[in-house]
Amino acid sequence: MAQISYFSRPSKIRNDQINTNTNMQQVQDYIQQNKERYLEELFGLLRIPSISADSDYKEEVIKAAEFVADSLRKAGADKVEVCPTAGNPIVYGEKIIDPAKPTVLVYGHYDVQPPDPLELWESGPFEPVIKKTEEHPQGAIYARGSCDDKGQFFMHIKAFEAMNAKGALTCNMKFMIEGEEEVGSSNLGVFCRENAEKLACDTILISDTSIIANDVPSITVGLRGLSYVEVEVVGPNRDLHSGVYGGAVANPINVLCDMIASMQDENHRITIPGFYDDVAELSAEERAKMNEAPFDLNKYKKDLDIGDIQGETGYTTLERVSIRPTLDVNGIWGGYTGKGAKTVLPSKASAKISMRLVPNQDPDKITALFKKHFESIAPPSVKVKVTPHHGGQPAVTPTDTPEYQAASRAMEKAFGKTPIPAREGGSIPIVALFEEVLGAKSILMGFGLDSDAIHSPNEHYGLFNFYKGIETIPYFYQYYSEMK
Ligand code: BES
Ligand code: MN
Ligand code: MN
Repeated sequence: MAQISYFSRPSKIRNDQINTNTNMQQVQDYIQQNKERYLEELFGLLRIPSISADSDYKEEVIKAAEFVADSLRKAGADKVEVCPTAGNPIVYGEKIIDPAKPTVLVYGHYDVQPPDPLELWESGPFEPVIKKTEEHPQGAIYARGSCDDKGQFFMHIKAFEAMNAKGALTCNMKFMIEGEEEVGSSNLGVFCRENAEKLACDTILISDTSIIANDVPSITVGLRGLSYVEVEVVGPNRDLHSGVYGGAVANPINVLCDMIASMQDENHRITIPGFYDDVAELSAEERAKMNEAPFDLNKYKKDLDIGDIQGETGYTTLERVSIRPTLDVNGIWGGYTGKGAKTVLPSKASAKISMRLVPNQDPDKITALFKKHFESIAPPSVKVKVTPHHGGQPAVTPTDTPEYQAASRAMEKAFGKTPIPAREGGSIPIVALFEEVLGAKSILMGFGLDSDAIHSPNEHYGLFNFYKGIETIPYFYQYYSEMK
């Protein structure tokens, strides 16, 4: 078939009037031809330690924002800005091809989790290398942020570059890549409200989640919400000799452990009164459907090196990590943790506690319930303090929308299998916020694997996943513009 040259094409012919198949082939060829460079460029981004939790890395965070802005410019975005906020900058870029066409907003985050404990990394967290693993026989990129989320949002910039280079854009494109996702996105809400018009879009596309396996594609249709609190238990006004006072004075660490333990019963249900009141129960059909997703318990246990699993009675593992709420201690400290032994009855004990929430639980309400309960169960021998941290709403996305159908067809085309709609346990609090402020639903088309060790030492992202993602994205735009 004769190919139409991009440059000689009369300006009245719109993108969608060109033979889309020919165009798509060119886009896919371009991606194949530029594979190595794409990876090298991602390595450049991964070398920047943009840790949002630690203010010592502020300059690196800004460097990462500039890097992203530069990548967007090079890929062909018309308007690229590094927008300051009260916290870390938000990178915005756009390419408007025709106001009459649908507009897709791509969201991602360039900030990463702290890499510690450093000694458990087999190679430097900010020195990306390729290593082969059982899950990734073609190799995986080892670096903090490789999967969460630098490697994933970078796929969108590279897919955009390819579509733009081949004159194959079928939608208006907007990019919003933030630098505070890992610390609760506290400045993104203000930014969205102040820039609602600029960010106006028909749908939001996010790659910051997982697929079930490389041969079992899935699209995330639900995320859990979050309530995060810090608690402090204070006993005597100073650390005491544990022999002189031990047995007569309440030990805040012992008390804290008792209090935490009492918040789950023998069926691993949370005992905070009212905690389950708003939990949306799924129908038997919905539960049966979600349990059709492949899950290998032995592999799961072997991967984590655990003798057995544990969770709420009456629910499967898949359900426990998606449609059921949780309460977990994320960190606990107090007393003497240095070398050797020190006999001390400590004055204080603390813990950080996260509660994962499901529809229709409200984070503020749950935080308030937690606080009331925690205070009520404290014995008179101690004083307690509850400090709320960030929270986030859960999210569910419908499957009967043009954007879901486009994502599903795109994955089917790239993977050769229809993706399974699956709910996931992690949280991306801004998804609910986008819906509220921008009035748009998000498509959660992520490409990571649960075993990619996000937030853990040796985080990695499969080369297969990185390239498959870049390959899938242009199909999404093609189908979306056809169906919209
Ligand atoms: N990308 C993750 C969320 C995620 C991971 C969703 C895997 C589904 C599957 C995101 O960067 C993240 O880590 N979110 C935090 C919440 C935030 C408020 C700190 C989380 O889930 O702990
Ligand atoms: Mn993420
Ligand atoms: Mn994360």
